[in-house]
Amino acid sequence: MTRPYIFCHMITSIDGKIDGTHKKLPERGLNALDFYQIAFGENAHYRTDAWLSGRATSEAAFTKNREPDVDKDAAPVPEGDYIAETDLPKYYVSVDPSGRLAWESNNLQYRDTKAHIIEVLTEKASNEYKAMLRKLNISYVIAGQDTLNYELLMEKLTDLFHIKTLMLGGGGVLNWSFIQAGLCDEVSIMMAPFADGSASTHALFQTKEGLSTDIPVAFDLDHVEKRENGGVWLRYKVKK
Ligand SMILES: NC(=O)c1ccc[n+]([C@@H]2O[C@H](COP(=O)([O-])OP(=O)(O)OC[C@H]3O[C@@H](n4cnc5c(N)ncnc54)[C@H](OP(=O)(O)O)[C@@H]3O)[C@@H](O)[C@H]2O)c1
Repeated sequence: MTRPYIFCHMITSIDGKIDGTHKKLPERGLNALDFYQIAFGENAHYRTDAWLSGRATSEAAFTKNREPDVDKDAAPVPEGDYIAETDLPKYYVSVDPSGRLAWESNNLQYRDTKAHIIEVLTEKASNEYKAMLRKLNISYVIAGQDTLNYELLMEKLTDLFHIKTLMLGGGGVLNWSFIQAGLCDEVSIMMAPFADGSASTHALFQTKEGLSTDIPVAFDLDHVEKRENGGVWLRYKVKK
């Protein structure tokens, strides 16, 4: 399969949680900036062409609880993918199989990184949702009938968008489904000095029925580094 190099890059608490009340602490802010620099900064460790996020993460970070502004009477859109023109240097790849996210423009801003949005849909997405994306000039690819066809997605990201290095950017459900599908080469964790003990917040990796199972995976430790703000940067290769 032709595919990009895939690394998962996440900031976690010392108990492996990726959200929760710890986000209010100043330690979180300092380490989140360090985390950002590793993948997106001027002297970034990774040459990140694109980052991939699950639908829940996109909702939490960008589209909030809005409803997509669709036209129920939209004319039928042409079959297949839609590739919009962009001169932005990076892509935000949004895994949204049913077409639920309420985007309002075709790009987003993460700190000082601006990226063009690519929606990853399946055949479940409605004509009216695809019409909305076209109107907003948001690229979309169809990868699968009801469930995600990983191989097809990899092919499209490579051939249509020339993505060579792809970051898995969460949440835990997305990360784990790609690891289980054999589509992750490396895991990079900024483990930062905080925790909140919550039993209900998301972890770095999580199964979801229908998307992934709990088949265990082993990793090879590649790098350990103490960072300036009390964080520890860990890199693991995924054992095949
Ligand atoms: N600390 C960090 O670095 C970090 C980074 C990112 C996110 N987060 C946090 O993570 C939380 C959300 O994580 P989450 O694990 O609940 O959700 P998530 O992975 O963001 O999204 C899960 C949803 O995405 C779609 N999806 C993901 N993988 C798929 C696959 N392989 N095939 C088909 N659909 C797939 C499905 O959407 P449908 O349900 O629509 O089918 C699935 O229910 C948020 O609180 C966010 O703030 C933290």
